[in-house]
Amino acid sequence: MFYARMSLACAWRYHSLSVLMKASKFTGIFFKHKLVKLPSGEYKLDFYMPRYPSEAFFTAMEDKVLRKPPRPVSVVLSITKACAYKCPHCYQRKDAPQELPLDVLIDNVRKMRDFGIVAWAVEGGEPLLRFERLEAVLKEISGLEVWVNSTGHSATPEKIYRLAELKVTGVMSSIHSVDPQEHDAFTGMQGSWQRALNFLHDCQKEGMLVGFNTVLTDRQIVDGGIDAIMALAKEHNCDYIQLIHPKACGGWMGKKFDNELSQKAIRIAKEAQLRYNSAKEKHSPVLTAQVFEESPEMLGCCCGGIDRFYVGASGEVQPCEFVNISFGNLQEESFETAYGRMRKCFATPCEEWTCCVHAKELAEHAGERLPIPWAETEQLVKNWKVGTPTKVYESIGIYK
Ligand SMILES: C[S@@+](CC[C@H](N)C(=O)[O-])C[C@H]1O[C@@H](n2cnc3c(N)ncnc32)[C@H](O)[C@@H]1O
Ligand code: SF4
Ligand code: SF4
Repeated sequence: MFYARMSLACAWRYHSLSVLMKASKFTGIFFKHKLVKLPSGEYKLDFYMPRYPSEAFFTAMEDKVLRKPPRPVSVVLSITKACAYKCPHCYQRKDAPQELPLDVLIDNVRKMRDFGIVAWAVEGGEPLLRFERLEAVLKEISGLEVWVNSTGHSATPEKIYRLAELKVTGVMSSIHSVDPQEHDAFTGMQGSWQRALNFLHDCQKEGMLVGFNTVLTDRQIVDGGIDAIMALAKEHNCDYIQLIHPKACGGWMGKKFDNELSQKAIRIAKEAQLRYNSAKEKHSPVLTAQVFEESPEMLGCCCGGIDRFYVGASGEVQPCEFVNISFGNLQEESFETAYGRMRKCFATPCEEWTCCVHAKELAEHAGERLPIPWAETEQLVKNWKVGTPTKVYESIGIYK
């Protein structure tokens, strides 16, 4: 009933019957998600979609069912590379340390906002370390669907209060193990596990949604790691767990994964998502496993401005934070130019995961600095073949 009502609301808003059909097809893929009712009375049907019935939600729907050419819903925006932690896998590990000047950053934030980007993941490095930049960005996007990814390092009650004041929807902190020592050894920072949990508690008290960003190895998943993390998240009253699949990029560029073990882990993660979002697990946090959300039955790979893209701290426009190639730097070129090049390359939504399919090739071309600059990216992507079109987008027909 909820989904039917929501599709009807979209059709009513745009006075169109075809919108009704397209909206039902699009929102229908989220049918097996747990519907979260927020204290505001709004609903979240998917971690990545803005809450319903916010203005941000309707803009996102408009992008999916009406717009030609369609626009992306979200951006992951890094405002600084500064971070005291030393995670070996970090996708920004080899990025340039320079930050976009604040005026250029804000100028581009306004452009992306006015272009219709409604779901923002603002992060670092550690964004709380550069709070004046974080605050300036949050002021521009206040009221949209805004999540902050932070370890909690350098958090103070004043900063947390300000995040809530600027209407941040939620915060996500990395927790990669239920064992504090194991997590701290991975981040290279004593006390980082406890700090993340304290930070989430404090943010929750201020009314923000909270959750873990968790990267488990395939071996950990096969050995029951998801259930352990979910139990910890439930104990700490989290709303969301985003399970991030390990990627061979950044510090892990060139890393090889055991294909058979990976396939097994993917199967387990997909089953876990269905289980934790079922009525039986009514009181568990929502599990959002990337491998489920990006499966062929769902949205496939939505990088390159299909649904999302990434802007690094120094202004590089990338198709995804996990794909270290640049379509231009915002200090040298306009957002429109870099974005246009990227959309040309990722013209059609496809099922194949760009971060995996091209990992070996990118590792062969990667230098000491990442992302691979536009001049080289341009040559590389010329040879990229179009993959299998994602079913839901094919049936909606907006990319034809
Ligand atoms: C760059 S961090 C930004 C926020 C903050 N610094 C943190 O670590 O939570 C975003 C998330 O991406 C994850 N991540 C970074 N590099 C990754 C990789 N190569 N594979 C999978 N996840 C990665 C991190 O573990 C973290 O959960
Ligand atoms: S993953 Fe996050 S916490 Fe770890 S080094 Fe990278 S930016 Fe810092
Ligand atoms: S490249 Fe595609 S599949 Fe890989 S993480 Fe990004 S959006 Fe997901």
